[in-house]
Amino acid sequence: MAKRRSTFICQNCGTEHPRWIGKCDGCGAWNSLVEESASGGGGALGGPAKSKAVKGRAVGLSSLDHVEEPLPRLASGITELDRVTGGGFVRGSALLVGGDPGIGKSTLLMQVTAALAQKNARVIYISGEEALGQVRLRAERLGVSQAPVAIASETNLEDILATLEDGPQPDLVVLDSIQTLWSAGVDSAPGTVTQVRACAQQVIRYAKRTGASVILVGHVTKDGQIAGPRVVEHMVDAVLYFEGDRTHHFRVLRGVKNRFGATDEIGVFEMTGSGLQEVQNPSELFLGDRLVETPGSVVFAGLEGTRPILVEIQALVAPSSLGTPRRAVVGWDSNRLAMVLAVLEARCGVRFSGHDVYLAVAGGLRLNEPAADLAVAAALVASLTGLSLPSKQVYFGEIGLSGAIRSAPQAVLRMKEAARLGFEEAITAPLAKERDAKTGLRLNAHTRLESLVTDLAA
Ligand code: TYD
Ligand code: MG
Repeated sequence: MAKRRSTFICQNCGTEHPRWIGKCDGCGAWNSLVEESASGGGGALGGPAKSKAVKGRAVGLSSLDHVEEPLPRLASGITELDRVTGGGFVRGSALLVGGDPGIGKSTLLMQVTAALAQKNARVIYISGEEALGQVRLRAERLGVSQAPVAIASETNLEDILATLEDGPQPDLVVLDSIQTLWSAGVDSAPGTVTQVRACAQQVIRYAKRTGASVILVGHVTKDGQIAGPRVVEHMVDAVLYFEGDRTHHFRVLRGVKNRFGATDEIGVFEMTGSGLQEVQNPSELFLGDRLVETPGSVVFAGLEGTRPILVEIQALVAPSSLGTPRRAVVGWDSNRLAMVLAVLEARCGVRFSGHDVYLAVAGGLRLNEPAADLAVAAALVASLTGLSLPSKQVYFGEIGLSGAIRSAPQAVLRMKEAARLGFEEAITAPLAKERDAKTGLRLNAHTRLESLVTDLAA
């Protein structure tokens, strides 16, 4: 009989090690290795070692049947969700929804399953975290307890698959969460990389075989990576993150991988006492609490996917008593802030040494766009000099290390959205085409950051 071998697997990135070490070679995480049985995982994944090999046949690309276009999808009717998935869940695909514990993943999926069930889709919601009574309580709170959704509370994968095979074939299966599942063929604890990977593999195979859409829920750790399930990201067809600050009521659903659609779309929701509500006009919401004409407050005309979104960027520059002044950022990249500060110092002669700098994107949204540079620079200068900028202005544009301002994609779309919300002036790089200037906004174009800073000081 073969000797049982165990390996040590990093729970952060899935790298295997022959013996325990303190720091993972793969991702550099400390103390993330867990001993797991090598045979279990391999067996469940690869099937019996001595299976009979069957010759696979290659076929000509052009000889393949025409794929039904558009793809067969299950649209939930929840616009903010369908936009992120690219028009609905694709049949026979697997999708991972990741997010912090308590952010609202189960709430969202309960609402989605109820919405689909109302449209006569056959839906099964399997909870490994909550008892049936708890699921029912939540459904009552959401006002969907009468929806024809089948509910099960189960964690053993073989039992779950047996449940799914038995009875009519479901259109959509939700597994909440992947960390609670365990397969009897794998002798590692639930939530470990080996278990999560083996369970995901079997579930994905089920989806491909039967044509059901499967949604896997995964919790993330504090550093933003899906612990354990991170390995699942490579296996599924689409990955959505449910983000937001738990102290705020906004939640953003963001696509990070999608084999059947674009990945830069977001869906915005508001968490209320009776579940998640769609937010059709996020700009109005993100600007709702703005105190006009505060020093250091600037409105950025951003773009998320195909949709323009206006958000307030706040900066606070205050004298520091520390040897190394503080730089703190919420909702933006701290390296990007360091770059904007350096360009302001080196090219425009604005000094931030001896000052603490705090930057925040209001409303708990996270911005990834370089086009926010210009709004950040304006907010920093305004806060440093105690200047209140006119409230009817929006800023957007990328700043290069030379101090040059570059335009951002879809400038016209951004400006039209700003005009719709009552803004009057856009500060950005010159537009490429003259005719684009007809957006309803006054265009105040700068090619260099120096000229903007001089303009602000005047
Ligand atoms: P939940 O969906 O359980 O989070 P996850 O599955 O991501 O762990 O969300 C739980 C939080 O949502 C909890 O803090 C309470 C809040 N909540 C509301 O504010 N309103 C509601 O209607 C519901 C159902 C939950
Ligand atoms: Mg949950």
